[in-house]
Amino acid sequence: MRIQIAAANWKMNLTLQQGEQLLNEVLSKSKQLKDYEQIIFAVPAPYLQAAVNLVKGKKNVFIAAQNIYQKKSGAYTGEISVEMLQSLGVTHTIIGHSERREYFHETNETLAKKIDIALEHNITPIFCCGEPLGIREAGTQNAFVAKQLVESIFHLSKNEISKIVIAYEPIWAIGTGKTATSEQAQEIQKYLRSQIVKHYDEKTADIVPILYGGSVKAANAKELFGQPDIDGGLVGGASLITDEFVSIIDALK
Ligand code: 13P
Repeated sequence: MRIQIAAANWKMNLTLQQGEQLLNEVLSKSKQLKDYEQIIFAVPAPYLQAAVNLVKGKKNVFIAAQNIYQKKSGAYTGEISVEMLQSLGVTHTIIGHSERREYFHETNETLAKKIDIALEHNITPIFCCGEPLGIREAGTQNAFVAKQLVESIFHLSKNEISKIVIAYEPIWAIGTGKTATSEQAQEIQKYLRSQIVKHYDEKTADIVPILYGGSVKAANAKELFGQPDIDGGLVGGASLITDEFVSIIDALK
């Protein structure tokens, strides 16, 4: 069984106290994880250390940053390096969230550099891809998303790409309450996996978890995660509500 992941993306929400309470409640209410199941909390940068401390010793529970800078160190005021994350015990980072692409103008080329530096420091990238509404309406979403993969991750070696997580997040479904249907999500995620086969091989494609993100909630998680090419979810809004996120964890295959 491929790794199955329930990942929370808190985005820029919650105070430290609210975050600690939420994380503790989710962990105390959630089921015993199977070997192939993981929970990841992508928390705001100022809370990373506190979050790492709260999950210490908890099997298959990890803390992620929401972004990193593509340089090792230097005069980049306000940015966060992978070495800083490593020194805190952070193991994962989101890279290329559509909000970073849209509001902070992150390009596929910049994201390739972020992917490289994360892997060089053993930080697992959760690489986000996904198309805007206009592209979906034009029916060209497969080519659009494949280009994101080609330009940001398909330069990696077989060994390197086996270490990353992909999150397919159609932009029109993020925070809108409009979820892709399980058929729509399965169809494109199957296509993305076929692109990994094309550039690498079947065995590699079979290792890489592909998450779905975009209005995942307790009510639709089971149906989405039941699809063969959906290996869990990257969850925004519903990850801020204890019982919602606990149900989403329960819905993992
Ligand atoms: P929502 O679950 O709020 O739609 O957000 C999805 C997302 O962007 C997760 O990274």
